[in-house]
Amino acid sequence: MRSWSVLITDGLEESGQAILRAACEVEDRKGISAEELAQVIGKYDAIIVRSRTKVTAEVLAQATQLKVIGRAGVGVDNIDLAAASARQITVVNAPQSTTIAVAEHTIAMMIALARNLTQADSSMKNGQWLKSQLMGSELYGKTFGLIGVGNIGTQVALRAAAFGMTVLGYDPYLNDEQIRQRGAEPVTLNDLFAKSDYISVHVPLSPETRNMLDGQAFSAMKRGVRIICTARGGVIDETALLQAIESAQVAGAALDVFAVEPPGLTALVAHPRVIATPHIAAQTAEAQARAAVDIAEEILAALAGKPLRWKVV
Ligand code: MLT
Repeated sequence: MRSWSVLITDGLEESGQAILRAACEVEDRKGISAEELAQVIGKYDAIIVRSRTKVTAEVLAQATQLKVIGRAGVGVDNIDLAAASARQITVVNAPQSTTIAVAEHTIAMMIALARNLTQADSSMKNGQWLKSQLMGSELYGKTFGLIGVGNIGTQVALRAAAFGMTVLGYDPYLNDEQIRQRGAEPVTLNDLFAKSDYISVHVPLSPETRNMLDGQAFSAMKRGVRIICTARGGVIDETALLQAIESAQVAGAALDVFAVEPPGLTALVAHPRVIATPHIAAQTAEAQARAAVDIAEEILAALAGKPLRWKVV
């Protein structure tokens, strides 16, 4: 019997590759270009991607024997789900693997904003001692607004509460009781804007969430709010955010994700009151090992026609 062939395009930790190799021929083509992908995709039964590879309708049109697309992580906005579904190609992800890593990075970003950590470090490396200029503020007693109270939002809520923050949550897919059970006080989006000292975004990118934080949203926020986004680029209107920072309506922002990645040295990235990291929230050894094993097992289950834990379409 011919064994299945699996293409990996954005790398996959060795433990996941080993699971796949036991049953499949595996090709690791990390960094493959969009053009090359369209040329070779026809040979494979399965493909595993992270966020770099765009699995477009054009790519899928060449995927004559593809049965399953695996996303080693959470977000599936880089996969054309409608085109995959139309071709009866299953899409699976590994939604639980990176939760802790992303929650911890969110908290790291919040502390870095509150205590000017990045400015403090870069000034020391310039031979300066900016002690009196780098006045911080405490998290204790502040209000933390979570937009999206899913797996990651819940873990962030737990950690924010440990700092003595009041945690507010907005999530149109959950009822008030569910939001409370996840550690946040349910509020409307406008209330969250009006009351929060920190706002952290934990929603996927979709037509409903694109530019959810726009100029109007920033104007409705408490003056001096700080924004954190480890979710997806495109949820925040970056031009509006820059304007809100320049007018001091927003005191600072910590961003791990961007509408275009990599964004280059944009005015937003370069702004002294912006902390920027290169989409590394899920980039821990533990999370990547979990994602690799989870997605490898899910791909094998899909190929064998077994029940799936994390079927997206
Ligand atoms: C995810 O959706 O799993 C994270 O953003 C990680 C990534 O895309 O690299």
